[in-house]
Amino acid sequence: MALILPNIIGHRGCAGYAPENTLEGIHTAADMGVEWVELDVKLTKDQVPIIFHDDDAGRTTDTTGPIALMTYDEIRELDAGSWFGESFIGAKIPTLEEAVDVLIERGLGVNFEIKPCPSREKETAEAALDILSTIWDDHDKLLISSFSHVSLEVAFDMAETWNRGFLLPDSESEVWMDNWEELAKYLKVSSINLNGNTATRDQVEAALDLDVPVLAYTINEPDRGRFLQAWGVDGFFSDVPDVLQETLFVVH
Ligand code: G3P
Ligand code: MG
Repeated sequence: MALILPNIIGHRGCAGYAPENTLEGIHTAADMGVEWVELDVKLTKDQVPIIFHDDDAGRTTDTTGPIALMTYDEIRELDAGSWFGESFIGAKIPTLEEAVDVLIERGLGVNFEIKPCPSREKETAEAALDILSTIWDDHDKLLISSFSHVSLEVAFDMAETWNRGFLLPDSESEVWMDNWEELAKYLKVSSINLNGNTATRDQVEAALDLDVPVLAYTINEPDRGRFLQAWGVDGFFSDVPDVLQETLFVVH
């Protein structure tokens, strides 16, 4: 499928202005004119795909504990907005389906990053792809990415024609593994999504050599964005998409 990417993708929704990975964040991005958002997908204990980043609830909700041990009903009770600001009290952790409803309503494209809790790489991708195959039609506006090569391979096996994004560096070792090019080619990825704050120019150029779009996360500083733009990076994930848009893409 052709991938129609914008220059800027709202990171975790629009994480600089609304609590990350919430419906409120998706609406905030849409209100700002952002065309795509990136959202993280995990599984509840009872196998419901939800939009959430961390393995533990503590940083972004009003409780603590491993997400993988909480049922959907328990997760539904959590407040995922009050940590961010009073105006977001009561924001919920959305399901994947709820997020898709809002994305379609607002006409946004999306990068779903499969973010499995440890040892749930396969089932998280399977559950997410199962749901998406029934409720998402516009595959030019969908990118499935993951740091987990197991999750990416599941996506490849279940839906070879969908667009996949290869995330670098390795999330544990924080280095680019020796065989990353081989893996990216084997998985037939449509984009390389690299850490733009740590990547070297040589790494960016090696990624560009694969002849697929290169996207950099998470770029909130225009100066860093300018460097990456000069090196040839095609697009950016940002918590503050308006700042990047204004400084990198608006001609004054
Ligand atoms: O998908 C790009 C970026 O979101 C990867 O890092 O930790 O913010 O999910 P993280
Ligand atoms: Mg992410």
